[in-house]
Parts: sequence; C-alpha cells; structure tokens
Amino acid sequence: MILAHTSVDVHRALTVSPHPIGFVPTMGALHDGHASLFDVARASCATVVASIFVNALQFDQQSDLERYPRPLERDLEICREHGVDIVYVPDHETMYPSDFSTVVSVGRLGRILEGAHRPGHFDGVATVVTKLLSAVRPDVAYFGQKDLQQVAVIERLNSDLDLGVEIRTEPTVRDDDGLALSSRNVRLSETARRQALAIPRALEFARDTARSVGASPTEVSRSMYEQLTASGLKVDYAIVLDADSFQESDSITDRSVALIAATVDGVRLIDNCFLRADH
Ligand code: PAF
Repeated sequence: MILAHTSVDVHRALTVSPHPIGFVPTMGALHDGHASLFDVARASCATVVASIFVNALQFDQQSDLERYPRPLERDLEICREHGVDIVYVPDHETMYPSDFSTVVSVGRLGRILEGAHRPGHFDGVATVVTKLLSAVRPDVAYFGQKDLQQVAVIERLNSDLDLGVEIRTEPTVRDDDGLALSSRNVRLSETARRQALAIPRALEFARDTARSVGASPTEVSRSMYEQLTASGLKVDYAIVLDADSFQESDSITDRSVALIAATVDGVRLIDNCFLRADH
C-alpha cells in the first residue's frame, strides 16, 4: 500500500496504476461503513484509492473539529486489510496553503437542511471534494447514503464542473441495533446511545406509515418529529423530501426520502431512508 502526502505523490503513484480507479474519500476514524465502501470499490476497480483528511473547512464548530477522532495507524491498518492500494493523507497546510482562496459553493442545495444548521459546511465539503477529485481523477467515487445531502452536493459539483466522475452511493451500514455507523458514535454514552435509537425507530415508523396508511409527506414528517422529541432528542429537522430535487412534494413517491438530524447528549447525528425501498 502506497502512502501519498501530496497531490504530486498521488499523480506519481497513479501514472503506473491500472484503470478503473475507484476512490473513497474519508475523514478517517474508519468504521465498517467505510470498509464496505473499500470492499465495493475493490470488487469492481483495478486500483483503489482512499483519502484520510480531517477537513477543517467543513466544521462549523471549532470544538467539533478538535474532538474529531484521528486514529491514523488504525485507519491505515483498515485500509490495508481491505485492499486499498494508495492512501492519500495530506496535511492541512498542503491542502490549504496560506494563500488558498477558492471556495466551491453549490447554491441552494448547500444552504438547506445540513447547510442551514451548519453554515459553511457544504462549501467546505464541496471545496475539499473538488480538490480531492482533481488530485485523484478517479473513474468512480464511492459515498455512503447516510450523508445523502452531501452526495447530492457532490453530484451537483461533479456535473457543473464537468469532472466526469461516476458517483456511486452505497446503502448505510448499521449496527445490529439499527443505529447508522458514524465516526461520532464513539462519543455516545451507553444511555445516549439507547436514546439515539429513536432515530432508526422514527425512520422505520415513517416507512411503515407511508406504506400502510398512505399518509402525506407532511404527516409523516410531523409524526417523526413528535416521536423524536418525545424521546428527548433535540431535533434540527425530520422531514420527507424528494431525493432528486431536495424539495417537498405533495405525495409519497419512489424517490421520497425521510431525513433526520438530531442531537443526543451533545452528539449530533444524521440519518435517512427511502420510504419505498429497503435502505
Ligand atoms: O463524508 C466525509 O467523510 C467527508 O465529508 C468527505 C466527503 C471525506 C469530505 O471531507
């Protein structure tokens, strides 16, 4: 496995690497969700590249950035175990030299939901992902469905900037109790973790309600919100939207997705599921 610290190192390693090149960008603190992306990439690409970079630009709170776990040695071990060929691990100064001044911003999609609650977050994501895709120039890039709005932002910039990468979204990986895997889960106490299960329960309920009772998106959104607040969670949003437009619609369709962001004991979690699919 090759360790690359600059985009020049990445280019050098990739000139002798066969296509298709699959790329999994991460911020480290790798879990089984990331490992499953490596496995999917490994199964269909001749070269698998991962990046590990805690992107300060996408954190709206300094304390969140400081507390973000950085177990680099363990992360590299996981990359090795899952057949990653090249790991790009730039440091902050390499990514953002002192005269760095470009911001990639995708408009409305970056300002709603997560963007509204975490101002600047998606500009940070869009900027770093544009840099990462430009450095690696993969054929395919893999992302988890848990960050569905992030994937929509990345699809937008990929299309608008003619980057020509195939963007693949893989289903969210969950623990046995249903909680979506997240690098932030390690910060949940046992009690908070039990409380957090209200999130997958609300999504399951949304799916059942939409299927059996034929409720409207507004009714499903309201009942998710009520369930979550009744479980003591601080809810930023619990909403049913159309996954393509990220707009509300009048009725439930195959593209209806329920999205939740809520805080449990100081830990902010997000999750989502399609109402007419199994993921
Ligand atoms: O999902 C993440 O881990 C990050 O937002 C990403 C895509 C690696 C950009 O920093």
